[in-house]
This record gives sequence, C-alpha cells and structure tokens, in this order.
Amino acid sequence: MRTKIVAGNWKMNKAASEAAALIEGIKNATADAAGVEVVVCPPFTGLKDAAAACAGSHVKLGAQNVHWEPSGAYTGEISAGMLKDLGVTHVIIGHSERRQYFGETDETVNKRTKAALAAGLVPLVCVGETLGERDAGQMDEVVVRQIKLGLADLDIAKVVIAYEPVWAIGTGRTASPAQAQEAHALIRRTLAEMAGGDVANGVRIQYGGSMKPENAKELMGQPDIDGGLIGGAALTADSFAAIVMAGV
Ligand code: PGA
Repeated sequence: MRTKIVAGNWKMNKAASEAAALIEGIKNATADAAGVEVVVCPPFTGLKDAAAACAGSHVKLGAQNVHWEPSGAYTGEISAGMLKDLGVTHVIIGHSERRQYFGETDETVNKRTKAALAAGLVPLVCVGETLGERDAGQMDEVVVRQIKLGLADLDIAKVVIAYEPVWAIGTGRTASPAQAQEAHALIRRTLAEMAGGDVANGVRIQYGGSMKPENAKELMGQPDIDGGLIGGAALTADSFAAIVMAGV
C-alpha cells in the first residue's frame, strides 16, 4: 500500500505575510486526513513563515526548486542545505514551467534530484508531455525519456513523481482518469525496468493538471495514481483540503 501524497504548488503566489493564514486553514480543514501526506510548497520567500505555521502539525513543507551545488557563485539560486535549514522536507523539481520558461532540462533535473536526495529532502520530480507532443503520438517517448534521464543513477525508491500533462496545467482541461492512469502505468513500468518491480511498486506517482475537488476522487481512485500536485486549487484552504480529503 502506497501512502497518498497531496502537495500544493503555490507557484509565484502568496507573499510571506499571507502564508501562515493559508496554512492555518489547511491544518484545520485536513486534521482528519489520516493516511494522506499533506505538503504545501510556497515560494522561497514564504518558507520561513510557513515552517513556523507547519511546526508540530501534520502539514509538511516543500520548496519549488533547488540548486545542485551546496553553495557558491550562483546568483538567485537556493541550495538543498539552505532549505533543510529552514525545516523544508520536500522539493518540487523539473516542473514544466521551469522546463518551459527557465531552461530546465532532464540533465538539470537529474542534478537537482541528486542534490535533494543527498540532503535528505523528498524530491517531487515532474514529468509530462506538451499538447503538441501528445497530438504527435509522442507521449510515451517523452515521458519515458524524462523518467530515464531525470532519474538516472539515483535511488528511485526515495523519489516521488508527478505526472503533469502540460496541456492540463492551469487550463481547466484535466486528463481523463483513463488517460492519466495510462501514463502512470507507463511510468511505473519504466521504473520497474530501471529499478525492479518492488521499487517501482513502492514509488508514489502524483497526478497534476487542473485537479479540483470535483475530479480528485476519481483520479486518485485509479490504481496507479497516488495523490496530486495541485496548482490553482491549492491557493484556498477549502479547495485544497477538499482534494486532500478525497484521497482519504
Ligand atoms: P494546476 O497546476 O492545478 O493549476 O493545473 C498544477 C501544477 O502545475 O503543479
């Protein structure tokens, strides 16, 4: 049995002064979410206040990116050690917005994931095809490549994967449960090739892309969907908590 994991990706939303109130709301509304791991991922500037708000509760704290070096001349970057120091336990890596707008590649995803693991952070590694790739029949090829290169030479058992079809992110267009399940099963088969069936069966694979209270239960009811990575619907306590509770 895999423990479901629902993470809120706040993206570039919520100032530090707004983080604690949202987390308080999430804490209260998910107090009965037994058996679901709940994670919030504010922007870097909100992590310190968020850590204080999460302290002693069931809500865990994630960041949205991490650099692969421990320190040095990398203006604008944040290291895994800096995140640990703030009480961060999880980190999103390789989100499609980073791939699309900030030059993230499978190689940098691999380096960031290794650095996160070395620091004891749980990486939430994002993969997913664009609409053009899906329409061209390349979904399998793209997702398998992202998994094989992004997770090369590391301890796959310690990673969480988020399958986020780019065409479903922020568009209101969700993958159907069957489409999502097909991609998740493909990812699990790929993990089995890389690390063996036992490891593959233990890895959690979240779905992301317009997941909402209305569709969360059916998506998370699929055999290979182990939670969600939530964008827009993670910005209010009510909708995020409703998604978490759909996983109970
Ligand atoms: P969305 O974003 O829920 O707003 O589609 C999901 C994500 O990008 O992680």
